[in-house]
Order: sequence, then structure tokens, then C-alpha cells
Amino acid sequence: MDYTEVFPKLISHCKEHGYIFQSSEIYENGLPAVYDYGPLGVLMKNNLRNLWWKSMVQLQPNIVGLDAAILMHPQVWKASGHVDAFNDPLIDNKDSKKRYRADQLIEDWISKRWDKARKDADKKAAKEGWETGGEEHTQFMRNAREGQKAREAEAKLAALLQAGDLAGLKELIEELEIVCEVSGTANWTEVRQFNLMFKTQMGATTEGASDLYLRPETAQGIFVNFLNVQKTSRQKLPFGIAQTGKAFRNEIVARQFIFRMREFEQMEMQFFVKPGTQQEHYEYWRSERLKWHHRLGIRPDRLRLHDHDKLAHYADAAVDIEFHFPFGFRELEGIHSRTDFDLSRHQELSGKKLQYFDPEENRNYIPYVVETSVGLDRLFLAHLSQAYQEEEVPTAKGESEVRTVLRLHPLVAPVQVAILPLVKKDGLPELAQEVLNDLRWFMQAEYDDKDAIGRRYRRQDAKGTPFCVTIDHDSLQDEAVTLRERDSMQQQRIPIRLLRNHLQSALSFKQLMS
Ligand code: GAP
Repeated sequence: MDYTEVFPKLISHCKEHGYIFQSSEIYENGLPAVYDYGPLGVLMKNNLRNLWWKSMVQLQPNIVGLDAAILMHPQVWKASGHVDAFNDPLIDNKDSKKRYRADQLIEDWISKRWDKARKDADKKAAKEGWETGGEEHTQFMRNAREGQKAREAEAKLAALLQAGDLAGLKELIEELEIVCEVSGTANWTEVRQFNLMFKTQMGATTEGASDLYLRPETAQGIFVNFLNVQKTSRQKLPFGIAQTGKAFRNEIVARQFIFRMREFEQMEMQFFVKPGTQQEHYEYWRSERLKWHHRLGIRPDRLRLHDHDKLAHYADAAVDIEFHFPFGFRELEGIHSRTDFDLSRHQELSGKKLQYFDPEENRNYIPYVVETSVGLDRLFLAHLSQAYQEEEVPTAKGESEVRTVLRLHPLVAPVQVAILPLVKKDGLPELAQEVLNDLRWFMQAEYDDKDAIGRRYRRQDAKGTPFCVTIDHDSLQDEAVTLRERDSMQQQRIPIRLLRNHLQSALSFKQLMS
């Protein structure tokens, strides 16, 4: 199956198997760009969050955790720049009334040119025997007609965004002859700025209430607590503060399922460093975070680094780790060298000193910050996109059938092992329950005794369960079970007394990280 075809199938798969549901879907259209995680989804999301937390906090001697509130003092967002500068350029099509982000319309156009250039390069590479993604392949792609058009548009877009030139964005949309996907026309409004923060109120009456915002990033909770955490945890520079939690953005165009949501979860770490050393820490985290994704089973050819041309108001360097989603390469994680912007601004607006006393230099200063910020939902989508496969497999009768399988990393998969008694009688369910009761203390284990064994295997493949344990009549005699591995479908006989250790070593976090 072509990778680009995965996306619509994945969305239905997520609903059918209880991974993800549209929020409030019993009401007409549900709530757009807001999603609920079902029984399997929540298990997988927890796994990804825990893996991040263990890597970023448990294994790091100089990173500590935090769980700051979602609601914060309104001045926080003034200081961070979100009140004045957290805007997206929006444009409407006058015929369809459909609203778009102007920069994304152009990015989508660029992405299509790259896809075309990539296809041409693939054909040429197959003919010439070049390696896909190698030097010749990449050069051919860049110099192909479509590649050149894409690069020209990228350069123009970057310059316009850098200059904040809204009229120029509209001109570029017209120049590229971009039309609305609904009306098919180029009858566009002017481009306007739109603030992405959700406003709410605190207080019992409207008159006495003060305006608050739902946080658009978790990072600011870390900045305002910098001194509280540093003093109580007695950390010396360099050190980091990590947290995971919900963030909210009133995205103009929320599309592509859980890729761009209005309520989502971030996993962020701010690493506080001595001014002047930020570059080395930035380089370190850039490569460390890329490695982390590889370790969790993301294919290296599905990841790439994209250095920012346009830096955010707070950054002196920034890179995106992009993942190749079925709809193209898109940002998965950002690594930002944020200078002392945030701490300085909070110090300025709060009037409270946010400085670090450096005992070696015997002086106070405001630390610089290197941030790693990954969206949990996007990480979830990346893993699912890569994992979803439909493949032809032989049946027991010697025929063939298509199985849908989620080849998730065993530590990421929602359920690690399914225990399947061959029949619902003859003492097999009792033995299966015994095995289940032992394993469930150490991993997510489930019991399934409905339908023929082949159908149960398919069901577990579709859920992404890496191991199935079948209890048959021989198990009562030889105290052994059949262990089936999801990806290879290989089966082996294993004594029950060795089963737990065997599975635990296959699920070892230490092995994953070493
Ligand atoms: N504190 C820095 C920050 O928030 P960002 O690039 O705006 O930087 C970081 O966001 C990450 O959060 C992104 O790389 C992405 O994974 C995730 N993210 C951002 N907006 C999102 C949205 N609307 N829906 C889902 N994930 C989002």
C-alpha cells in the first residue's frame, strides 16, 4: 500500500479500535479539531508520555519535573509576547467562505511541488541505480523544474513572513494561482492577523472578572517557576525543568486529524545555561532528541532536521525535527535556543529578580534557555502513521488474506501481551487466567477467548499487540505455551516459568535507551 493512502484508513482504524474519537461527536459534527482518546489511545498516549518522562527526568541527573497550572496570571502572556505577537495570517475565500492560513496555503502548494519533484527523482534513481535520499537523488530533486519552483516559493514565503508583509502574502497566493479547494476560485479577501489564544474569565461576576488565557504553551509555567524550582531542588547551572501538559490554540485551520488540534498536549523541557554556552547545549539537544525518536523505532528516513529561516521573537537558533507524515514532512518537535528573552521579560513585568547566583563566578545573571518541545499528539500520530500496514499473509488453509497490522514499538503499543486460551473449556481458561494474573503486574496484558484463534491473532495485530500467548491442551501437560510475535508471526514454545522474564527483556527500557 502506498504510504500516502494510509491517512484516511488510519483515521477510521483509530475510531473502529478505540484509539481516538471526535470530541462530542453525538452532536452535529462534534467539536472540530478536538479529540478524545479511547481505551487503546489512552494506553498508548500514556506510554509515549512515560517514555519521554523517564528519558528526560528519571535518567537525567540535572533535570527535574514540574506540573504548573493551565491558568496563569494574564501578565504572563503579555511578557511572553503572546498577546502581541502570537498571530497567524488568515485569509478567506469570498465564494466558499472557507478560512485558511495564508502561509499554509503557500506551504501546501510548495509541498505538492516537492512531492512531484520527489516522484521524478525516484524514477530517475531507479533507472540510474541511485540510492533514494542519497546525494544524486537529492540534487536531482532540487534541480528538477518542480523542485526549483518549490525553492523559489520557499524563499519568497520566508522573506514575507520575516517582514510580516501581509499584502505580499496575498500577492504570492495570487502569483502561484492558488485556488480554494471548495469553490475552486481565487476570489480571496485581504490577509489579516488573528490571535490564537483562547480567552476566558476568572471570577464570579462579569464586572469583577479578569480576563485570562488558556495557556498556548506549557513553557511559561516553567519560566515563572524558575527560581522556585532552582532553589528547592538545589540545582546548579546547567539544569533543566521538564513538564507535560495541555496547551490550547485557536487554530484557524485545524486539519489533518490530530496533527493540528485546538486542545493538545506538549512535552517540554527548558534547559537553563550560562550565557555564551547556549550553542553547545543547543547542538547537544538537537542531536539527542533526534536519537530519541530513532530509538523508539521511528525510521531514520522518516525524520529530517529543518533549520528555521524565520526565527521567533525569542530565539537565536531554532530547528524542527520533521516527520514524514502520509501528507508530507511536517514539524514533530522544536528545539529552540530562546536566549534570556522569557526570564528577562518576566523580570521586567513582574518586578521580581529572576537571576541565578553563579558561585564559581561570584555574580548574578539571567540564564539563557535551550528548549525541547514535542507535541504528544503529533508523536502519537507519527508512530501510528509509520506503524499502519496492510499486508497479504497466508491462512491456515493455505489461502491468503489481508491483515491490518500496527507495527508499533512494543513499549509504545497500548497492550503488550494478549493471553488466548485455545478453547473455553477443559481447564484452559483457568490456566490462561493464572498466566494473565502474573503478567498484568508488569505490563498491559489482556485476555481474549472469543472467536477462532486466527481471528483473535488478526484482532491483536490490528491493535498493535506485539505478543500473543496461546494456551492449548498440551500446556496442561508440559507447562509451556505458544508465544507468537506480531511482526514476523513466528511462534515458539516457551515454558510458563520463563515467560515473564522473556517478555520483560523484550520490553526493557534500559535496552531501548542503551
Ligand atoms: N514552547 C515552544 C512551542 O510551543 P511550538 O513549535 O509552537 O513551540 C511545539 O510547539 C510543539 O507542539 C510542535 O512541534 C508540535 O509538535 C506541537 N504543537 C503545536 N501546535 C499544535 C497543535 N495545534 N496541535 C497539535 N500539536 C501542536
